This record gives sequence, structure tokens and C-alpha cells, in this order.
Amino acid sequence: MIVAPSVLSLDYSQMEKQCQLLNTSRAEWMHFDVMDGHFVKNLTFGPDILKGFVKLSPLFKDVHLMVSDPATFADVFMQAGADQITFHIEALSSNEEVKALANHIHECGKKAGITLKPNTPLDTLKPFLKDFDLFLIMSVEPGFGGQKFIEASLDRIQTLRTWLNEVGSNAHIEVDGGINETTGEQCAKAGADVLVAGSYVFKNDIYQTCETLWKLK
Ligand code: DX5
Ligand code: ZN
Repeated sequence: MIVAPSVLSLDYSQMEKQCQLLNTSRAEWMHFDVMDGHFVKNLTFGPDILKGFVKLSPLFKDVHLMVSDPATFADVFMQAGADQITFHIEALSSNEEVKALANHIHECGKKAGITLKPNTPLDTLKPFLKDFDLFLIMSVEPGFGGQKFIEASLDRIQTLRTWLNEVGSNAHIEVDGGINETTGEQCAKAGADVLVAGSYVFKNDIYQTCETLWKLK
């Protein structure tokens, strides 16, 4: 399992120490939640904070854009050091725009991900099964850490993995929101191979929680 701690829940009074713990843990990715206060009712961090994390940690920078203008912010965060840009399908108004942004991210040499809110029909992903390196299933309503896992996400993970297998895609399925050892195990069984965890990791022992999620098959 690829473990992607969400630094939204990091203790910013100990940023360097917490990054050192992450760097020695089983975490391979760092999940970076960008919120613009418009697409979601929360405001988080800009590119300069990502530049700080790039200096502090070699982990793969998995940037999750919860913004109304993902095309603009994709460039901003790729220039700041993102290795992967995942954007919300709800933020764009046509399939052509979605494909164009995926192509642009790839042309910049980065990985491209697509995600959707829990209430957005899974079918909206069908035209893009071959266009992305990663599909992010939101298991909470985007905007805040510490929410409860939405059980219906498990069927969506299973269905999506079936679709990807049918088209011969080995794209990642990442799950984000309310992940702990119990929900993480359920997601792994359903077909997820990347788990985002914020509060579970940073409100507990960073090393131990990353190890627990990493062992999930
Ligand atoms: C929510 C973010 C998630 C969140 C996860 O909008 O996308 O990444 O930080 O936090 P937990 O793991 O606490 O639910
Ligand atoms: Zn996220």
C-alpha cells in the first residue's frame, strides 16, 4: 500500500520535526491539500508552503487541488515542486477541458489525477479511464480533515477498479478522507492502492500509523 499522509493535519509548530518523522516512516507520498475558499469553504496553503516541504522532504508531492480554477493552479503548484496534480472534475465544464488539462500536466512531466466529490456520479469518470495516472475517490466531502468515512465509497472503489481492469489501466486508486486502520483495510480489499490519512497519522504516532497502513494489502 502507498501511504500518503495529508499535511493538512500536520502540527505546524513542529513542521521540520514532523517531516523528519515522515521521511523515516513507511510513507512514500506527501498529500498536499490546496483549498481556495471558493470550491470548498476552507482556505489552506499556497505554493511557498509546498516549496518549504520540498526542502524538508523527498517524499513524492501528491497535490490535491480543491479549487475552482485548476488549470491556473496546476501550473502554480507544478512550478512549486508538485510531482502529481489531482483536480476535481466538478471544477471543469467539459470533457475536452478535462482531457486538455491532463495532457498539459503530462506535457509538464508530471503525473495527472482526477477526483470527484462523494455525491458526483462515478460514471463521470468513464470517458477518462485511459487519461489519468490516478483516480482519487473522496470518502468525505472535501474541505476539512477529521470527518467520518463514507461507507458508500467502498462500492465506488470496487466499481472503478473493475472498469480500469476492463480497459487494461493499472492507474492508482487513491482514497482520501476518514482513513484509519479499519477503513483503510476495507479500501484495500475494495481495490485501492494509495491511502491518504491526515488525522489518523498526525493525531497519533506518525511512524506506527504509517507502518500499519503500509502493511495493508
Ligand atoms: C479533505 C482532504 C483530505 C483530508 C484527510 O478535503 O482532501 O485529504 O485532509 O483528512 P482525514 O484523514 O483527517 O480525514
Ligand atoms: Zn486531499
